[in-house]
Amino acid sequence: ALPAKSLASAAANGLRLVSVRNSSSQPKVALLGASGGIGQPLGLLLKQDPLVAHLALYDVVNTPGVAADLSHIDSKAKVTAHTGAAELHAAVKDADVIVIPAGVPRKPGMTRDDLFNTNAGIVRDLVETIAKAAPKALIAIITNPVNSTVPIAAEVLKKNGVYDKRRLFGVTTLDVVRSQAFVAELKGHDATKTVVPVVGGHAGITIIPLLSQTKPSTKFSDEEIAKLTPRIQDAGTEVVNAKAGAGSATLSMALAGARFANALVRGIKGDKNVQCAYVESDAVKGVQYFSTPVELGPNGVEKILGVTSYEQKLIDASVAELNKNIEKGVAFVKGK
Ligand code: NAD
Ligand code: LMR
Repeated sequence: ALPAKSLASAAANGLRLVSVRNSSSQPKVALLGASGGIGQPLGLLLKQDPLVAHLALYDVVNTPGVAADLSHIDSKAKVTAHTGAAELHAAVKDADVIVIPAGVPRKPGMTRDDLFNTNAGIVRDLVETIAKAAPKALIAIITNPVNSTVPIAAEVLKKNGVYDKRRLFGVTTLDVVRSQAFVAELKGHDATKTVVPVVGGHAGITIIPLLSQTKPSTKFSDEEIAKLTPRIQDAGTEVVNAKAGAGSATLSMALAGARFANALVRGIKGDKNVQCAYVESDAVKGVQYFSTPVELGPNGVEKILGVTSYEQKLIDASVAELNKNIEKGVAFVKGK
C-alpha cells in the first residue's frame, strides 16, 4: 500500500492550491496554448496564484487580448503575451514551470489516440524550443493523448541532450479531481477533504482509481466499485458527449492544471508535496511511464511512491495499452 505518511501529506495539502511562506524566489510560469478552452480559465487561475510572479502566455492566436484582459486583475503576477513561433523562445526562457494545453480536443466518437496525428507534432515542436530555451524547466503536459505526448517530449529532450526524467510530467490531476468529486457525492463526504489516488495513464482502461486507498478511509461495496471505476475512466467522454462537438473538459481541467502547477511551484520553493502524475517510472514492471503518487520538490520528482494495491489486476490490464501509446510516441520522434 502507499505509505500512510504520503497519503496523509496529500490529504493535508498536496492536492489543493496552497501558498508557501518565507520564500523569496520569483517563479515564472509559461502557459502554451493560452488562448484555448483550457488556456483561458487556466490563465485566470494562474494569475491568481499567489506563488506566480510572472505568467507568460503563448499561443498561435489571440494572445494579446487574453493577456490584456488578465493583466487588469489586481493580483501579483506580471502577465506577458507571446504570439506565434517566433515568440516562443521568449515565452519559455527562464520559466520555472511550463504548462502545455496546446492542441486539438476530442469530438464525440473519437478516442484520445485519434488526436495523435495533430497533437504529436505540436508537442514535439514546442518541446524542441523548450529544450533550447528552458532546459531546466518543469514541463507539465496536458495535451492529449497524454500517454504518448509525454514520451514524445522525453524523446525530443533526449535528442537535445537535456532530458531529466524528474522534470517531465503528464498531467493526470483531473482524474484525481473527478474521483474525489464522485466519491464525495456518492458517500456524502466533504469533497474538499476527500483524497483518492489515481494511477496508470490518462485514457480509458489505463486510468486506475485506487478507491481502496481513499482518505478518509471509506468502504465501498463491490457494486459501488464496479460502477465508480468505469465512470471515472470514462469521465472525459461524459464531458465530450455532453458538449456535443464543442470540445472536451476545459473548466475542470483548468482547475486541475492550476492545482498541479501550484504543486510544482511549491516543490521548487522547497515545500515538498505529493501529487499523482504520469512520469518515467520504475513503479510497475514492464512499462516505462506510469502515473503514481510522486513526491515533488526543488528538482521535480524527488521520490516515486510505489503501488502494491489490490488494484494490481487493473494495473496489469493497462500495461499492454500503455506500452502501445508509449511506443507510438517514441517512434514518432525517432521516425520509425
Ligand atoms: P482548444 O482547441 O480550445 O485550445 C487549444 C489551444 O491551443 C488553441 O488556443 C490553439 O490556438 C492552441 N494551439 C494550437 N496549436 C498550437 C501551437 N502549435 N502552439 C501553441 N498553441 C497552439 O482545446 P482545449 O479544450 O483547450 O484542449 C487542449 C488539449 O488539452 C487537447 O489536446 C485536449 O484533449 C487536452 N485535454 C487534456 C486533459 C487532461 O486531463 N490531460 C483534459 C482536458 C483536455
Ligand atoms: C479529459 O479527461 O477530460 C481529457 O482527457 C479530454 C478528453 O478528451 O476526454
